[in-house]
Amino acid sequence: MNKIVVKDRLGKNYNLPANPGSTIMEIIRDAGLDIEAACGGCCACATCHIYVDNEWLSKLNPKDEDEESMLDQAFEIKENSRLGCQIEFDEDLNGIIVELAPD
Ligand code: FES
Repeated sequence: MNKIVVKDRLGKNYNLPANPGSTIMEIIRDAGLDIEAACGGCCACATCHIYVDNEWLSKLNPKDEDEESMLDQAFEIKENSRLGCQIEFDEDLNGIIVELAPD
């Protein structure tokens, strides 16, 4: 079974089952973890901000302009900041490690 590993804001790790075609945000949200995702995945809120483990960053598609501009409005941005709704899970990402950014 495919999975992603998510660290919550208290530092606890969760292994979440992941289906190809779902976004990282949807996987986290549907598992009941605390990700607001206010816009529902339209790249219009930045409340699905996550940090991607550096080893996995190069496996992701690069950010497009919309994601870059939403991240510009997010807090506590780091080099490995991404929007969870803009990363579609596929089998190449099996085991990806991400962390929820602060609220
Ligand atoms: S859910 Fe709103 S930008 Fe990702």
